[in-house]
Amino acid sequence: MNKTIATITAACVGGLLAAPLLASPEEDREVWQTYFEKRFPQVEKTDFVNGVYSIDPVGRENWEAIEEFPPYEAAISDGEEMWNTPFANGKTYKDCFPDGPGVAAQYPHWNKEKGMVMTLPLAINNCREANGEKPLKYKKGPIADLLAYMTYESRGDVVNVEIPEDDPRALAAYEQGKEFYFARRGQLNFACASCHVGNSGTTLRTEILSPALGHTTHFPVYRSKWGEMGTLHRRFSGCNKQVRAKPFPAQGEEYRNLEYFMTYMNNGLELNGPGARK
Ligand code: HEC
Repeated sequence: MNKTIATITAACVGGLLAAPLLASPEEDREVWQTYFEKRFPQVEKTDFVNGVYSIDPVGRENWEAIEEFPPYEAAISDGEEMWNTPFANGKTYKDCFPDGPGVAAQYPHWNKEKGMVMTLPLAINNCREANGEKPLKYKKGPIADLLAYMTYESRGDVVNVEIPEDDPRALAAYEQGKEFYFARRGQLNFACASCHVGNSGTTLRTEILSPALGHTTHFPVYRSKWGEMGTLHRRFSGCNKQVRAKPFPAQGEEYRNLEYFMTYMNNGLELNGPGARK
């Protein structure tokens, strides 16, 4: 999709980021965050990391009760065990992540050498493959456990995604993620922004639509509907299917660029994963 279409689509979903040709990512982020602060003036900015529970007091009570015995606790301890268990060659994840497990705030980032957005799950699999281990599946299972542990160790760190100016491909990846967010698709012809920007706070069937601000801060999540943990790209895929659009591969370029854009929009918020959701 070209930029003109993105502009028009953006204009259709609430006028947000309607001038992407002129705006820098930093200006986008300001428009984006201000939009949600104005739309939900009762919500403390730091509370958007709690998704729909920032705007739904009844759901919140339930959720707070669930958080007293968090359903993601087993995943954190399984993930910790993975972290501490050496690969067949004797090395461990620590050899790939010398700063330790709490590095979620370093992702996603632009990897100049590879010319692509590097996410934490991809870095985990790169580590495994470099050490002769099979890559893990990206949507659920062991990778969600390891992510749960690493994310838990990153709690409280502040999202600070950078778009380096010395490599124009980084800005292009950001722009692609943004276009993806505003592009209508599927039989229902909805963009991500249709639900999570323009209609955020309204009810769709039985669910209140959460504001997009804060969407990436708490993954992986334990979802009651799944009965297990799932990654951010599993959620992307579910939301694509919801409008009867074909989902893209987890950790493919589309979803990585989408994550780059969405996480950049959350700059300044705190990481609070793993999370629990309905
Ligand atoms: C038809 C409406 C609809 C569209 C379009 C849609 N979603 Fe969703 N999405 C939902 C609903 C409903 C939920 C569950 C309730 C909530 O948290 O909003 C949800 C939840 C999410 C969550 C989890 C929020 C949390 O707090 O954990 C993320 C992330 C998300 N959507 C991203 C996306 C992305 C990215 C797209 C575009 C690919 C998209 N959604 C498109 C309806 C939609």
